[in-house]
Amino acid sequence: MSIRLGDTAPNFIADTTEGTIDFYDWKGDSWAVLFSHPKDFTPVCTTELGYTAKLRDEFAERSTKVIGLSVDSVQDHLSWAADIEETQGQPLNFPLIGDPERAIADEYDMIHPEANDTLTVRSVFVIDPSNKVRLTITYPASTGRNFDEILRVIDSLQLTDQHKVATPVNWRRGDDVIIVPALSNEEASERFPEGWDEQKPYLRVVSQPA
Ligand code: BEZ
Repeated sequence: MSIRLGDTAPNFIADTTEGTIDFYDWKGDSWAVLFSHPKDFTPVCTTELGYTAKLRDEFAERSTKVIGLSVDSVQDHLSWAADIEETQGQPLNFPLIGDPERAIADEYDMIHPEANDTLTVRSVFVIDPSNKVRLTITYPASTGRNFDEILRVIDSLQLTDQHKVATPVNWRRGDDVIIVPALSNEEASERFPEGWDEQKPYLRVVSQPA
């Protein structure tokens, strides 16, 4: 059964490069990015994990913890970590789950048999402080992910959770946003007293609220 937006992320106990964890306990009331990569000692995955480790401060600024997973063993992850540091110039700084029995990969539907029945695909789950799944993305094995895009979506989720706005195409933090159609002009005037640019009655553009 696939996991959909709004579902509660299943809890699990896992062996990781940082010891055994209970996912909910490890996550606490932070946001989390849980992502799978197909296999250790592979080129694209090596670049992805090095880059994600470089984003540590960006994730921390967003109260977000990161955890990776593949169907390799923790011992393999630990050996591979040396290659990541050597080639990407960045040590790993987040836990990697070893899931050789595929228990978590199956629960999160990270194995797509028509793509490859033995490897996890490149799945990403963004999970909010109440353990709800807020973003799912699946990439093929041959395409490295854009982890800056994942930060961008977290920015949008955190902003739109706080304000009655949505973020337009290619929005980045600081850009103008859109007043949600459900908000009447009267209500919008209270929330946005400086006004907005009404391009259509349903397209009201406003500065990003602080
Ligand atoms: C890679 O990370 O380079 C990779 C992994 C599995 C299949 C294809 C590429």
